[in-house]
Amino acid sequence: MAEVLHTRKELAAAREAMTGTVGVVMTMGALHAGHEMLLRAARERADHVIVTIFVNPLQFGPNEDFDRYPRTLDTDLEICRRVGVDAVFAPPVAEMYPEGQPTVRLNPGPLGEDLEGLSRPGFFHGVLTVVMKLLQLTQPDLAFFGEKDYQQLTLVRRMVRDLDVPTEIVGVPTVREPDGLALSSRNRYLSAAEREAALSLSVALRAGAAAAERGEDAGAVLAAAHRAFDNPAARLDYLVLTDTELEPGPVDGPARLLIAAWVGATRLIDNTAIHLA
Ligand code: PAJ
Repeated sequence: MAEVLHTRKELAAAREAMTGTVGVVMTMGALHAGHEMLLRAARERADHVIVTIFVNPLQFGPNEDFDRYPRTLDTDLEICRRVGVDAVFAPPVAEMYPEGQPTVRLNPGPLGEDLEGLSRPGFFHGVLTVVMKLLQLTQPDLAFFGEKDYQQLTLVRRMVRDLDVPTEIVGVPTVREPDGLALSSRNRYLSAAEREAALSLSVALRAGAAAAERGEDAGAVLAAAHRAFDNPAARLDYLVLTDTELEPGPVDGPARLLIAAWVGATRLIDNTAIHLA
């Protein structure tokens, strides 16, 4: 039975009692089958699993959805129990930020200002700051992050490398609906028509991947993805082809195709692995 912990003191006591390896899965709740895949990966790899559920105010901009972000703790706990996690840390905001919002924040570097960071200034400062705090509080051997948020995964990997954090970061493949839409807590904001338009993201990625499989070059792959992103109800933010570390410049071999688009008032992101011949 998963223990539900609301204070850092309770978490410290539970962590202290854990022997063997500890895996952590950090979430903002509203758990779906994508999160569940992370929980299962952690359950498989670690002796003990801690799940954190915290809607982090630091990573929301002034006009973003912090207040209306879905909060579904009871069903989240059911999912955690079903997977057999050992502890759920669900602190109130004041427990994480007792002195208000911290003035010291992690600087993600140039990659933090690109792609998602361009549309959402300060977003990755907020993400890395809370991820670092949760790593300190949970002291895990392993931490699991979804490839769905590929830039986040990349920056977290860099942070632990650059700051000598003794935790292995494990990336978990994106879980999708049968029609290809990547699962996201924000999908529940979509109307039926928007749900249809949201498909354009994964359709574009698949078209790009298919072009790469046919042996086409980077320019042709991008062009194919652009052509396939064809829906007046979806507004493209970015569609880029990078290397697997998200470094700019010419790419060949293993690469990543990333997309962000607005569907109505909802901003969606997705990405896929690409192999350029
Ligand atoms: P959240 O959006 O709740 O996502 C928690 C974790 O679930 C992230 O690692 C994310 O990449 C992963 N995830 C989400 N949808 C997924 C899908 N369809 N398939 C696979 N994995 C998926 O990401 C955050 O929260 C926050 O930024 C956080 C890291 C918790 C810091 O506040």
